[in-house]
Amino acid sequence: MIVGVVGATGMVGGELLSQIERRRFPFSRLLLFSASRGHAPRIVRDRRSPVLPLSSHSRLLNDCGLVFFAGSDGVSRRLAKRLARRGAWVIDDSSAFRLDPEVPLIIPEVNAGALRADRRLVAGPNCTMSGLAVALSPLHRLWKIRELRVASYQSVSGAGRGALEEFAGQAAVFAQALAKGENPSFPKPRFLPAPIAGNVIPQVGSFDLLGRSDEETKVAAELAKVLGAPRIKTSVTAVRVPTIRGHAIACWARFHGKADEAVARRRLRRAPGMKLHEGSLYPTPLAAAGSGPVHVGRLRRGVDGRELCLWIVSDNLLKGAALNAVQIAEEIRRRGWLNEP
Ligand SMILES: NC(=O)c1ccc[n+]([C@@H]2O[C@H](COP(=O)([O-])OP(=O)(O)OC[C@H]3O[C@@H](n4cnc5c(N)ncnc54)[C@H](OP(=O)(O)O)[C@@H]3O)[C@@H](O)[C@H]2O)c1
Repeated sequence: MIVGVVGATGMVGGELLSQIERRRFPFSRLLLFSASRGHAPRIVRDRRSPVLPLSSHSRLLNDCGLVFFAGSDGVSRRLAKRLARRGAWVIDDSSAFRLDPEVPLIIPEVNAGALRADRRLVAGPNCTMSGLAVALSPLHRLWKIRELRVASYQSVSGAGRGALEEFAGQAAVFAQALAKGENPSFPKPRFLPAPIAGNVIPQVGSFDLLGRSDEETKVAAELAKVLGAPRIKTSVTAVRVPTIRGHAIACWARFHGKADEAVARRRLRRAPGMKLHEGSLYPTPLAAAGSGPVHVGRLRRGVDGRELCLWIVSDNLLKGAALNAVQIAEEIRRRGWLNEP
C-alpha cells in the first residue's frame, strides 16, 4: 500500500513521519507532498522519499491507499473527499471536515466505535480538544457532564512552523532587552495577532460576532461531537502562551450527578491514553512535550460535590495531531479495512 503525506514538511507532517517510523506502520512506498519546491528528501525506515510540490504532482495521490492530510484546510477541502470517494482512506488533521455530519471525528481512546468501513474520510481532532476529550470521557461516562468551563494555554507550535520561527526571533530580541533592562521592541508579527515572546494572547483564530474565537468554538463543538453529547454547555477562553509545544488546559467540569473525587481518581488511573499525576505532582508543557499520553494533574473537588477541577496537558503535535492520526490508521488496519502492502 502506498501511503501519502500532504504537508510532510510542516510541524504535524514531520511528527507523522516520526510516528510512521516509530510505530512501524507498514507501507510499500511513501509519497510526500509540500507547498513549495526545494525541500530535502525525508528518510523513513531507511527509505529515502523525495518531497514533491503538490501543485504539480497531485495526480500521484490517486495511487495511494491511505493519505494523511496535514496541510491547510483549503488543500483538504480540494482533495480529501474526492480521494475518499475513489476508495483511498483519508485521515485529515485540518479542521475542514471535523464538524461534517458525514465525516467521523475520531480519537481512538474515546470513540473508535464511530469508525465505519464506508466512511473513508476520517477527521482528526483540534489539538486542544483532544486532550480534553481523553481526560473527560471516562468521567462523562460515570456521571454525565452538564457544563464545562475551560481556559487553554496553547503553545506556539499549534500555529505552525512559521509562528514558531517568528517566536524564536522575538525570543532573541526579548533576551537582549531583558539584559539591558529595556522594553523589547518587536517587528510587526506575521503569524500571531501580537508578539508572543514575554506575552500571552487571548486570541486563537479570528473572532465571530459574539466575540468567540475560532478555537473556542471548535473546542466546544468538537467535544460535543466526540462525546456524542450535544447538550453539554461549554465556555472556553483560548490563550496563546510562549511555550514551544504542549497545550495546557484548566478545566472545571460540572456533572448531572454527584462526582466523587476518589472514584474519579481510580477511574482516571486506568483510563486508556492517559497518565494521572497525583499528590503534589502535576504535568507541565515542557515536561510533557514529546510524550504520547494525555497528562492530568491537580484533580480536585470544585465549588460543590457536582464539580471537579482538572489540569490537563498534552502534546499538540502528537495526541493533538500526528499520533492520533496514526492511531486512527492502526485502528482501520486492525479491522482489516486497509489493503496491506
Ligand atoms: N500544529 C498543531 O499543533 C496542529 C494540531 C492539529 C492540527 N493541525 C492542523 O494540521 C495542519 C498542518 O499544521 P502545521 O502546524 O503542521 O502547519 P505548518 O507547520 O505551517 O506546515 C504546513 C505544511 O503544509 C504544507 N502546505 C501548505 N499549503 C499547502 C498546499 N497548498 N499544498 C501542499 N502542501 C501545503 C506546507 O508545505 P511547505 O513547507 O512547502 O510550506 C507544510 O508542509 C493544519 O491544517 C493545522 O490546522 C495542527
